[in-house]
Amino acid sequence: MRTSKGSLLTSRVRASRFGRLVLDATLEQIYRKARKTYSGATTAELDRLFDEPLPEGGRDPALVLDECRRKVFRHSMHMSHPRIFGLFNPAPLPIAAFAELPVAFLNQSVDAWKAGPAATHLEMRLIRWMNDLIGFGPEAFGVFTSGGGVANAIALKLARDRATGTRARRSGLPGNLVGRLRVYASEQSHFSIARSLDLLGLGEEALVRIEVDSRMKMRVDHLAGAIARDRRRGLVPMAVVATAGTTNTGNLDPLQSIAAVARTHRLHFHVDAAYGGALLFSNRYASRLDGLELSDSVTIDPHKWLFQPFSLGGLFVRDGRRLRRSFKIEPGYLKKDLEAQADRLDFYHYSLEGSREFRGLKFWFSLKTLGRRGLGRLVDATMDVTRHLEDEVRRRDCFEPFHAPVECASFCFRYLPRWARRLPAAGRSSRAALTRLNRVQVRIQQEVERRGFAWFPTIVIGRTVHFRFGIFNYVTRNEDVDAVLTHIRRTASSLGL
Ligand SMILES: Cc1ncc(COP(=O)(O)O)c(C=O)c1O
Repeated sequence: MRTSKGSLLTSRVRASRFGRLVLDATLEQIYRKARKTYSGATTAELDRLFDEPLPEGGRDPALVLDECRRKVFRHSMHMSHPRIFGLFNPAPLPIAAFAELPVAFLNQSVDAWKAGPAATHLEMRLIRWMNDLIGFGPEAFGVFTSGGGVANAIALKLARDRATGTRARRSGLPGNLVGRLRVYASEQSHFSIARSLDLLGLGEEALVRIEVDSRMKMRVDHLAGAIARDRRRGLVPMAVVATAGTTNTGNLDPLQSIAAVARTHRLHFHVDAAYGGALLFSNRYASRLDGLELSDSVTIDPHKWLFQPFSLGGLFVRDGRRLRRSFKIEPGYLKKDLEAQADRLDFYHYSLEGSREFRGLKFWFSLKTLGRRGLGRLVDATMDVTRHLEDEVRRRDCFEPFHAPVECASFCFRYLPRWARRLPAAGRSSRAALTRLNRVQVRIQQEVERRGFAWFPTIVIGRTVHFRFGIFNYVTRNEDVDAVLTHIRRTASSLGL
């Protein structure tokens, strides 16, 4: 099938034949049991695997699929594996993954209504559902994004425009505000907050990092103190960002008290609930997000803990008109007054992005098939497994739990070799012991990753390296957790640690 005619799959019969091959190969990969979480291939091996010149001629698509299986499938991190306790990469719901197929074939771009009419209205409805769950009123709106980082950037642009007036859109920051605007977030906030300030021309130093307490929550007394201090110094506070579900430990800042501080100082209040926003769907823990409705904007990423394939982030705002004032632009090729209906909504008026995929369809499929309650049950099931993990870690003296309470599906802990178990807790934080213990965690994690039995990341909290387990696979069971804890202990022994 060298001619482009065959390879283009323009006939329904050929497309269907090839489509079945792709489907079978993919499902075989995803549903196969007893496989490794990762092949263990090194960077050099992967470089060699893909090292070839740009193909001048074409090949039969079935051969390319075969090569894809051997090279890509085989060396992927298997996110649907029950022993992946990874970053925020969920096991995607099959129903959501299947929805990606029509998304690609229909190729609607949800920037302009005319490029995706039904897609626009479906996403508008999803945004309404999300705003209702948050507790925002009728003026609320939002936009789906490639992820939480972009959603946070849009939120902070909104905050900047509130502080400077939309004049800054045309002429940049007024001279009297250059170097003076300030945004407050906890020291555990995601790096995208600082990056957004860089992008907005405010500079990363505009971010004031507020200390957290022992539960890894923002200290609201410090927040209020920092704002007052900055005002006295002639600086201009612009926004407060709370994190609902921190990247490291999954803790939630006290939303209601932070909202009160933001209100007193008339600051934009953004909540980065990229991770913890999933609790809105929970049948048991939704009240952990009380206060979210007091914010001006909220980031929630269904591609984290709501089991959607990448990418699906979202920004939801209390007042959609402000979002439009911050982003509306109308180039000649998209002029609204050339169109039949004036009320057609164009999402590029509300976002950083122009052309983009129809992200909402997979989430719509998920919600229509599972319902809010069903999706919430999956969130709650991962919480149950997280609690089990916490109990098991606390029960075994070879592990030391991190002290923050479990509030989302994350739990951090470290392995204690025999010598460290004999030390009092204070002794373990001496410089020498800490260096040695940090090295132990890194060696164990790397060996577990190499063997492919399980996967979880190591993270640094303060100066201490921990394993960070996140339960983002709704089929992970308590037995999987038990098996990994045993595997960690055995790995440590086999490494002589
Ligand atoms: C709290 C929080 N906010 C934002 C982000 C950024 O999300 P994304 O990687 O989808 O841009 C993350 C990512 O881990 C996060 O944990």
